[in-house]
Parts: sequence; C-alpha cells; structure tokens
Amino acid sequence: MGSGVRLLVLGKQGAGKGTQAVRIARHYGVPHISTGDMFRAAAAARTPFGLKAQEFMKRGELVPDDVVIGVVAERLAKDDAVDDGFVLDGFPRTRVQAEELQRLLGPGGLDAAVDIDVPTEVVLERISGRRVCRTCGATYHVSHPPKVDWLCDKDGGDVIQREDDKPEAIERRLELYERDTRPLLDYYEELGVLVTVDGDGDPDDVFDRILEAVETAREPRSPAPPAPR
Ligand code: AP5
Ligand code: MG
Ligand code: ZN
Repeated sequence: MGSGVRLLVLGKQGAGKGTQAVRIARHYGVPHISTGDMFRAAAAARTPFGLKAQEFMKRGELVPDDVVIGVVAERLAKDDAVDDGFVLDGFPRTRVQAEELQRLLGPGGLDAAVDIDVPTEVVLERISGRRVCRTCGATYHVSHPPKVDWLCDKDGGDVIQREDDKPEAIERRLELYERDTRPLLDYYEELGVLVTVDGDGDPDDVFDRILEAVETAREPRSPAPPAPR
C-alpha cells in the first residue's frame, strides 16, 4: 500500500457522511468509495445487479453482506485505492462487513474510523429536506438548492428526492443503524482507530474538526522510552 490515507466514515443516515467524505477525499487526493452511490448508479443504469440492490434500498433494508463485500473488495483492489488509499462512506455497516474489511486490509490497514455524531432530530430534518442529482449524486437541501430550477450545478442533471428518503424507509434505516451499525463504534474503539467528531453545525466547521481528528490519529504513536544505558 502507498502513503495516502485510509479512512472510513461512520454515522447515522443524514449525519453528513457523503457531504464530508467528498471533501476528505479531495483533501487527501484519494478515491471516495460510497456503497450507496455505487448501488444507485447501478440501479440508474438498470443493470441486473443494480435492480436487485434497488429492491432492498427503496424499502430501507440493507443489501446482503456477500453482495456488498464483493463490490467493495473489487473496488479496493483498483490501483488508485491500493496506491493512494481511500475514504469509505457507508461501508462497513454490519459486524460481518467490518471483519471482512479487516481481513482485506490486514493489521494497521486503517488510519481512522471517523464517527460523525449528530442527534437524531437533526438528521431527520436533514434527510426530509435532502435532494440529490440523479446523474452524479451531488447532494442538496431544500434550504440550499441548486442555482437553476432543480438542475445540478455540476452537470445539469435532475435533482430529485431519493426513494429511500420517504418517511417509512427512513424509519427502517434508522432502526437498522441502531441494530447493526452502531455496535461497530465499539469494534473500532477496541481496534484503537475510532475518532468521534461532532457533526452538528456548519459543514465547513465539521470538516475542520474531522481533519484535526484524523491528523491526530495519524500521528506516530509516542516513541518508546530510550533504552537504559
Ligand atoms: P447510503 O447512500 O449510504 O445512505 P445512508 O447511510 O442512509 O446515509 P445517507 O446518504 O442518508 O446520509 P449521509 O450521512 O451521507 O448524509 P448526507 O451527506 O447526504 O445507503 C443507502 C442504502 O444503500 C442503504 O439503506 C442500503 O440499502 C444500501 N447500502 C449502502 N451501503 C450498504 C452496506 N455497506 N451494506 C448494506 N447495504 C448498504 O447529508 C444529508 C443531508 O444533510 C443533505 O441534504 C446535506 O446537504 C445536509 N447536510 C450535511 N451536512 C450538514 C450540516 N453540517 N449542516 C446542515 N446540513 C447538512
Ligand atoms: Mg450518503
Ligand atoms: Zn449532478
């Protein structure tokens, strides 16, 4: 592996994983790997795999572990991720996925697991107002829409509401977060790589807090005391 950064971003639905992962990836010059974005792109392209994933996603259910792990393993094997590193967004979400990732990366293969911590009442407001570009996945909010008529600022694609951002699916997604994903905080704490960042407030401030926490986590462990003479 090269000298870049190897991170994953945890947090409940609407915590700002996507918003921040894009910035982190740009800052460190590493690929942003979002399983949700990969599944939505496959669904939009109507591949058999994408259509199958879409069935789970629109109900707010998790896509089965073996499917997700296959997709991520393939992506992590590409040169950019091997040479430079990565920011994983939305993976892992279950204990099985986390253990498989450890196996793929090996010991010391992760610089930090960043938990973006936001109260549930705040994420509910964010998700209900979220709108995304159908083409590139860029994220907007009803309170900060694209410049022109709900067309993406980057590529002019339609900016729409995600199918799983409707109330019933949101409820299920948050339930699964508590059941399957929140326990990963303990898992990464035990591995000594967990950093928790307050995700409430201005996105620029959240980003600054994340960078500071990541840099602290990457500092070499304090050197061993000098050997006695
Ligand atoms: P995924 O796409 O990963 O969705 P998610 O986990 O539900 O997370 P979100 O994308 O909803 O939230 P986010 O934290 O990225 O928030 P965002 O930055 O957009 O997964 C979708 C589905 O795919 C899953 O339900 C599952 O079916 C399947 N899937 C994916 N990965 C899987 C896996 N590993 N295993 C199994 N299945 C998997 O921000 C939210 C909103 O808030 C936006 O409008 C944004 O503009 C706004 N915002 C962000 N930050 C701030 C801020 N600081 N202040 C104010 N507003 C903000
Ligand atoms: Mg996201
Ligand atoms: Zn777009």
